[in-house]
Amino acid sequence: MAGRHLKEMFAAFHRHDELAFRRAAMEVIEEEQGKHHYALARDLQRLLAAGGGATLDSGDVLVLPDPPMDRDGDWSLAAVRAPQVDLAQLIVQPKVSRVLDQVAAEVPRWSELDRHAVPRRQRFLFQGPPGCGKTTAAEALASELGRPFVLVRIDAVVSSYLGETASNLRRVLDFANQAPFVVLFDEFDSLGRGRDDAAEHGEMKRVVTAFLQMIDQYRGPSVLIAATNHPGLLDTALWRRFDEVVTFDRPSVHDIRRLLRHRLRSVPHSAVNIDETASRLKGLPHAAVEKVVWDARRTAVLAGRDKVGSADMAEAVIGVRSRPW
Ligand SMILES: Nc1ncnc2c1ncn2[C@@H]1O[C@H](COP(=O)(O)OP(=O)(O)OP(=O)(O)O)[C@@H](O)[C@H]1O
Ligand SMILES: [Mg+2]
Repeated sequence: MAGRHLKEMFAAFHRHDELAFRRAAMEVIEEEQGKHHYALARDLQRLLAAGGGATLDSGDVLVLPDPPMDRDGDWSLAAVRAPQVDLAQLIVQPKVSRVLDQVAAEVPRWSELDRHAVPRRQRFLFQGPPGCGKTTAAEALASELGRPFVLVRIDAVVSSYLGETASNLRRVLDFANQAPFVVLFDEFDSLGRGRDDAAEHGEMKRVVTAFLQMIDQYRGPSVLIAATNHPGLLDTALWRRFDEVVTFDRPSVHDIRRLLRHRLRSVPHSAVNIDETASRLKGLPHAAVEKVVWDARRTAVLAGRDKVGSADMAEAVIGVRSRPW
């Protein structure tokens, strides 16, 4: 382990400089990775995640850094948190899980790619209909990588002051420059939609384009993910600014069955017909499937029953089918 990085870590500890500490710690992790000490690198990464799956005896190792703020310091532009979900909770198509697994394995080895002058995959576009796992996947990726999850608050970033939206985006990216995070610009297509006047469409395109240019030029240590459920709003020529475009589709009946089985694992139940429930949920997003299990569980609990039964599930299915998704 290079003495230089250790000294940086100790100095940062004394200065209470969380970001400098993380930077130096990441260098140590990358170095161990470079020496093919994968198990150690992974353990260190989990510890650095401050609760992201690390088994620690006494609380979190590190305090998370303060979020980036707007010009006047009134609003936080993002929420910074330890990730709470992991990739095992996601039911996605094999092509999606392949990319997510690849990224989880690849990011810790960026320094190796750099040495071989191979471009990193660092900017991702997650697209697809609502409730199919875009936000969850970004958070799970942060958990896999042992990094804090930074959820950009687009509503706070969008400012009615001319030019301030772009400045806010710049502040978020400056923050992402300071330490390795997974940063999600969720529903980023609404960046330019601060005002609902149709004439503002030009302004919206301008802000989104400026955003894409900024992330194109980003060379920092974070993974940047933009998510949208309106891919149509985006000029496809802009897609090449992303290193990877990942499409989250609605689940197949087979996926719905898997998701039901997974979510019912932690719910006592009896005589629930998974196949039948799954076929009745055909066409709905993952979020709806999850809701069925929660709704059925609620009905059972409130009725004083220990177990979810088939009638609870059937009623919950009718409920989710009768609302928009
Ligand atoms: N592929 C999936 N596998 C398992 N659970 C999922 C999946 N997709 C969504 N869910 C569940 O549904 C809920 C909503 O998912 P999420 O917020 O990730 O969807 P989204 O694609 O980001 O939707 P939106 O476009 O509305 O932001 C979460 O609680 C999550 O657990
Ligand atoms: Mg989302």
